[in-house]
Amino acid sequence: MKTPRAFYQPLAIGAPSPYRELPVALERMIHFVPPHLEKLRAKVPDLISKVDVILGNLEDAIPADAKIDARRGFIRMAEENDFGKTGLWTRVNCLNSPWFLDDLMEIVPAVGNKLDVIMLPKVEGPWDIHYLDQLLAQLEARSGITKPILIHAILETAEGVKNVEAIAAASPRMHGMSLGPADLAASRGMKTTRVGGGHPDYSVLADAAGEAAPRTAYQQDLWHYTVAKMVDACLSYGLKPFYGPFGDFSDPAACESQFRNAFLMGCLGAWSLHPSQIELAKKVFSPDPAEVAFALKILEAMPDGTGAVMIDGKMQDDATWKQAKVIVDLARLVASKDPELAQVYGL
Ligand code: GLV
Ligand code: MG
Repeated sequence: MKTPRAFYQPLAIGAPSPYRELPVALERMIHFVPPHLEKLRAKVPDLISKVDVILGNLEDAIPADAKIDARRGFIRMAEENDFGKTGLWTRVNCLNSPWFLDDLMEIVPAVGNKLDVIMLPKVEGPWDIHYLDQLLAQLEARSGITKPILIHAILETAEGVKNVEAIAAASPRMHGMSLGPADLAASRGMKTTRVGGGHPDYSVLADAAGEAAPRTAYQQDLWHYTVAKMVDACLSYGLKPFYGPFGDFSDPAACESQFRNAFLMGCLGAWSLHPSQIELAKKVFSPDPAEVAFALKILEAMPDGTGAVMIDGKMQDDATWKQAKVIVDLARLVASKDPELAQVYGL
């Protein structure tokens, strides 16, 4: 294991120093754009004000014969737009693909100073992060990049889930992780063809109450274990956990419910693969105004965060003060970007 001092050293002479703390950023939705399609690239200027993060997708869903166009399209998209406070990410092809190396070799020198985060798919263990970390440092040094490009891992293989803590700890470049339920289902041999969400047959049957009484099946969350494991790994290393894709665009209620479960468990955002999912993510990953109002009451009642008070019949103490702070800190971040919500929150 590296010593703490070495952990924060740049990995190439001339590369920017790694961050000690992640930059503060609102990332409720990571909006996927297929950059080989000019028609969709043309929507980017309008999207910038509507989403928190724009991601140029180079990996799955991009046909093999469009991989180079997607990479070049991403570079153009990055060059031609001013993203302001909206994050600019790309999902590169996976490490063992024929495209990964050129994705890095072309994108970092061309637009590395505008790129906030590289999403790395199919991460199996810390060795994958170490490789990208070193390569990025070399490319940053050679291209005169002034701020470190962060790494976001997709958790989407059985081995990756097994190694999730080591992945989180692999580099100060780690930004966070997203659950990739489609690849993960395949890797684990799960019997579902859905991209995220539940499955009607994954359920618990109520006890039998006599021959005639109907028995109710209660659907369970297929992703609970993995999201929980990812949240613990991320938060213990100061990283950000995200739910990934929800593929059934015709079922916004199920998407909202999947996003909300992730939010309640600690996730900060999800992917939007369709414009209709942008508003859903915004709604779910901005804290509920009633919850913010109650959290503000707790903070006001316990100015130094210690002791015990009763509010609306509920006991509050140092721990609930911390819970309230999580919600109010997020609400303040949302309010700094969204004047409408700032007013609703009274912040
Ligand atoms: C995302 O990449 C997934 O495999 O779900
Ligand atoms: Mg995947």
